[in-house]
Order: sequence, then structure tokens, then C-alpha cells
Amino acid sequence: MTRTVIRGGLVITAAEEMPADVLIEGEQVVALASTGSDVADGWTADRVIDATGQYVIPGGVDAHTHMQLPFGGTEASDTFETGTRAAAFGGTTTIVDFAVQSVGSSLRAGLDAWHEKAAGVCAIDYAFHMILGDVNEASLKEMDLLVGEGVTSFKLFMAYPGVFYSDDGQILRAMQRGADNGGLIMMHAENGIAIDVLVEQALAAGKTDPRYHGEVRRELLEAEATHRAIKLAQVAGAPLYVVHVSAASAVAELAKARDEGLPVFGETCPQYLYLSTDNLAEPGFEGAKYVCSTPLRPREHQAALWRGLRTNDLQVVSTDHCPFCFVGQKDLGRGDFSKIPNGLPGVENRMDLLHQAVVEGKLTRRRWIEIACATPARMFGLYPRKGTIAPGADADLVVYDPNAVQTVSAATHHMNVDYSAYEGRQLTGKARTVLSRGTVVVDGDVYLGRAGHGRYQPRSTCQYL
Ligand code: URP
Ligand code: ZN
Ligand code: ZN
Ligand code: ZN
Repeated sequence: MTRTVIRGGLVITAAEEMPADVLIEGEQVVALASTGSDVADGWTADRVIDATGQYVIPGGVDAHTHMQLPFGGTEASDTFETGTRAAAFGGTTTIVDFAVQSVGSSLRAGLDAWHEKAAGVCAIDYAFHMILGDVNEASLKEMDLLVGEGVTSFKLFMAYPGVFYSDDGQILRAMQRGADNGGLIMMHAENGIAIDVLVEQALAAGKTDPRYHGEVRRELLEAEATHRAIKLAQVAGAPLYVVHVSAASAVAELAKARDEGLPVFGETCPQYLYLSTDNLAEPGFEGAKYVCSTPLRPREHQAALWRGLRTNDLQVVSTDHCPFCFVGQKDLGRGDFSKIPNGLPGVENRMDLLHQAVVEGKLTRRRWIEIACATPARMFGLYPRKGTIAPGADADLVVYDPNAVQTVSAATHHMNVDYSAYEGRQLTGKARTVLSRGTVVVDGDVYLGRAGHGRYQPRSTCQYL
């Protein structure tokens, strides 16, 4: 077994910071000891990684990605191979992607199909949530089986009628089943029935530009759906995880429910923290680059999201990475914003965008690790194998240079998409060396990993309750 020591860095977990050396044997961390202590100095190793002046952090856990998702008549442009390699470059060592049950099909068929896409090609470890696209007697029964084999969370949609949409009765039944079998319900909370009416009216009035995507997907309809999801979960006696929260009023709904003691959780994404309707309004169809759902909101909403991350009314930042090329994919919606495939790239940028918030004093270093590594791992049953640095944990580690200055650009990123939503943005901080289960997969600008190193990770039920 290869013995590796990472020497001299500042080890940061959600719980503590300490100048410490980290001993790795094979795929796991086996010990930590204060730098310069007799114990640490006594360790012999096959390989020493010097982390002087660097942070040593757990690999990022991105609990919301959509590699090669079929959507809007096309398919997300990152494959499991390209997307997980890009994730590794950005200091993320685990993704939880969404397998899809389509209408008229079984959960098993959907899950098998996603296993087939990911098997043997991922650069980093991966797991699956299941999208419930057709809640019925048979799929409810199948939920139990999936929980038993490590697919322990299920996404439902109050949006996208005719595609992924579930009505309130289906939602309630899935929540009741989840309360019973331990599966965590994840909700896309937007009132899609009302939104579709507004879409039709906007298009009839000749409002076809990308910015109208943001206008019809009204904040009120996110808040309303969030509220309704919370009440349905309360009726079912189930916990609830609301994905991609973008509206201040939706954060307020979560905060109110949490103040009442309800087990409801919220996730936001870097695009909602850094981008806004100003981007959607960029001229010449450029706004299409920023079309995602829930939509980007006016800049004023960002303060509530940052605040929610500090007060723990929001617990997780994931990317909802769902890239579509500007040329040939976002294009499908020229002249009709409702045909622009929804989604933004970001799996490579998340850790750095959140570190920028540390630099700017919006988050502490430990909170950065908590929302990007530890809590997503606990929320989705991967802890402490993932999300922390401790004896027995997988050696998914990042030697992170807090002083490296980078300019984000599609010209240099590794995601398979022809634009960056953060083009030209200067960020301080960058992953220098990335280890996945003890193997160095990225060293500086050099990729040392391989397709197929990444392993499927069955998960236990939510550990955050
Ligand atoms: O616009 C988005 N978010 N696309 C991915 C699908 C979803 O709703 O998460
Ligand atoms: Zn969604
Ligand atoms: Zn309300
Ligand atoms: Zn998503």
C-alpha cells in the first residue's frame, strides 16, 4: 500500500482548523498529527506532498449535477467523463447526479440507464439521486428497493408540466413513502402550471427574448411552491430538501418552517449568489447563457441567500451543473425563450466561487467547507467517508492555494461547454493538488487521473436529521 504524507498545510474541516500533517495509506486517511510533532515527524512515506502555505481541505461534494441529461430536445454537453474530470480540476471529488425515471417507465430502468452512462468513465466518485418522473403505485414500491441499495433521495418537480411534473397528490404520496422508507424528498419548487400560462401569454405578446424566462418564472411562484412543499411534507411527516433556491421569499419560507422546528433544508447554487437578471438581459441573445430554473433573480436577492448560508436556513451549495453549448444548444430558443434548454455549467467553479466569499468576508473558512463538503455528504448519506478529513475517511483531499489568482474563462476551463457563466471574473484561490481515494488526479494544470478511477458510491439515508 502506498503511504503518502501531506505535510505542513492548514487542515480545514467543518469542525476545526489545525496546522497538521495527514497520513494516507492506500485509499484512506489513517492519521492526522500536528505539524512538527514527534508523531508526524516519525512518519515514513513513499511520497510526500508539501502543503506549506496551503490549505488541506476535504474534496468537494457536489450533490446536484446533470451530466449528459436529455432535456429540451438536446442533451447536457458534459458527459460523465468530461464533467467529472472538470469537477476534479475544481477540487470536487464526489458528485451526486440525477438518474431519471421517465413517464411510463420504471425507476429500475432509469437507474440502470444512468449506471450505464457513468460506469467505467468517471474521474471521481459518484452517486445517484432518482428523479421521480411518474409517481404511481409501482414506482412508490420501487422507492423502497432503491433506498435499500443506496439510492436514498428522490427529486420531484412542481414545475415542467408534461415532463417531470408531479401533482400535489403524487407529491404527498411520495413524501409519505419517504417518511416510511427513509428516502429524502428533494423538491424543484416552482408552480409550473401557473408558469406555463405566463409563458404562453408572454410569447403571444411577442416577448420572446431570454430575459422573459426570468420574468414569467415569478418569484411569487417559487415562494408559493416552497410553502406548499413544506406544508405537504409536514402533512406527510417527512423531511424536505428544496433544491436550487433562488428567491429571497423562498428562503423566508424555509426560515419560518425551520423556526417552527420542521426538518426542512435548502440548497442554493453559485449562479444565484453571483449572477442576476442583469445577465439574462444581456443583449444579442447572450442572455440565453444564463437561462436556468429556478431563474436568476434581481441582484437584491443575493443578500438573503448569503445570509441564509450563514444562519443555516440554507445548508448546502451545489451547482445544478447542466451545461448546454451556446452554439447549437442554447440556440434552440432563438425567437422563443421557452425553447432554450435550461441549465448552467459550474461544476468546476463551485469551490473557488465559494472560497471567494471567504476572501470577501461573507463566509468563514469552516463554513465554506461545511456547505460545500461536509453537509452535502451528511445530507445524502456519504459521511464520514466523504466530506471530512479523519482517520477512516476516504483520502479525497485538496491541497488548496488560498492566494492563487485566476481569471475564469471558457478558454481555460475543462468543462465541455463553449462558454463560462463567469467569463473574466477574477477569483483568489485554486485547487493545486487533488487526490481521489489516495490517487493524485490533478496536479496544478496537469490531469493525472483516468476515466474509470471514479467509483459508484451507494449511500445511507440522510445523516443530517
Ligand atoms: O435549469 C436547470 N436547473 N436545469 C436542470 C434541471 C433542474 O431543474 O434541476
Ligand atoms: Zn430543478
Ligand atoms: Zn407562505
Ligand atoms: Zn438540477
